[in-house]
Amino acid sequence: MDARKVLIELGGRPHVYQVNIGRELLPAGGAWARSCLGADAGKIALISNRKVFGLYGEEVRESLAASGFEVCVWLMGDGEEYKNFESLTEILNFFGRRNLRRTDAVVALGGGVVGDLAGFAASVYLRGISYLQIPTTLLAMIDSSVGGKTGINTDFGKNLIGSFYQPNGVLVDVGTLQTLEKRELVAGFCEAVKQGAVGGRELFDETGEFLQNYPPGQLRKRLGDEDCLQSTENLLVSQISFKAAIVKQDEREETVRIDAKSRKILNFGHTTAHALEKITDYRYFKHGEAVGYGILVAGEISKKLEICSQDSIELLNGVVRSVGNLPDTKNIRLDDLLDLFIYDKKTIGKSLQWILLEDIGKPTILTGRDIPRSLIKESLLEVLHK
Ligand code: NAD
Ligand code: GLY
Repeated sequence: MDARKVLIELGGRPHVYQVNIGRELLPAGGAWARSCLGADAGKIALISNRKVFGLYGEEVRESLAASGFEVCVWLMGDGEEYKNFESLTEILNFFGRRNLRRTDAVVALGGGVVGDLAGFAASVYLRGISYLQIPTTLLAMIDSSVGGKTGINTDFGKNLIGSFYQPNGVLVDVGTLQTLEKRELVAGFCEAVKQGAVGGRELFDETGEFLQNYPPGQLRKRLGDEDCLQSTENLLVSQISFKAAIVKQDEREETVRIDAKSRKILNFGHTTAHALEKITDYRYFKHGEAVGYGILVAGEISKKLEICSQDSIELLNGVVRSVGNLPDTKNIRLDDLLDLFIYDKKTIGKSLQWILLEDIGKPTILTGRDIPRSLIKESLLEVLHK
């Protein structure tokens, strides 16, 4: 079956690329890579981790080799804690040792951790070489592989070192979701609910209905059914199309923008999420799980500020809760969490910007100055400690 395609345009810039979405696309990954990279690309550094490479790596490597690429493989540690300077140094040294040239390319095969690190390394090596994304988690398929945000975590916060650097193509093989653990599906669906919450009622409802029909606990088994595969592909196309529309008109998340189409709206739930991840040393939450809590906190703040109705927030909370259980947060110290908000990238000038909701699909951006610390703390208490 032919892949479905979403075009990623960048506000009039000539760099345009496609996200191909479909089944059994990995065996033809080499031909796809050749079409994205052109005839001059000779070497490919295939970046993954042991787990993902063990599942899909050989298939991708063979396909790339069959299309005439010389493939070298670098496997990073598995986990958020490896998205750091040490891994970046190692990967750049690897590129250098393998003598990658400007016409060569990087292929990221894995989740958001692999994609963010590989993309960042591609963006700085020789001042930038081409890279392709083959996302294998739900989160990476609908969010991190599309739109060109790359980066690493540091001692002072998450994703604070990075670049806007667009890939030359993205290949989403829906079949790879069949091996993903339930907890990772839950994390991915939290990001899907986030995109629905800020994207519009249609995307929100499609995501909510999908979760009713195919709860994350059942999805892997049901991905063998034609109906489920079709609905999953449809949801992926809707989610990616929404992201494409935002990125098209605000590729670099311009700091001055506070309108409802600013790329900042994609950070809905992320102020609390990043602080939760940092306070637990990136080892306790999956990123998407932390986003799940972040959505609930942002909803609670919106409700307490009376900018969004209780009904809409209940609807939002219902869909977040339908995704699945999130890790316990009773032991998180709220004052310590609040102190971490100052490191957030959404701080513009002296004030943190909060992405909140006026309704489902109607995001609004407010500065921290307009929100009393006590109200934020009460909202954290309500969501994380009750
Ligand atoms: P991840 O990359 O850590 O992957 C989750 C786990 O699933 C890992 O253990 C991985 O080895 C495993 N895995 C991956 N694919 C698999 C498969 N098909 N079958 C079985 N196991 C598989 O986590 P993630 O949720 O994909 O990504 C989270 C990261 O993405 C965070 O670092 C976050 O900051 C980043 N992110 C970036 C953006 C962006 O725009 N660049 C957006 C959202 C999130
Ligand atoms: N994941 C948020 C963004 O791409 O802007």
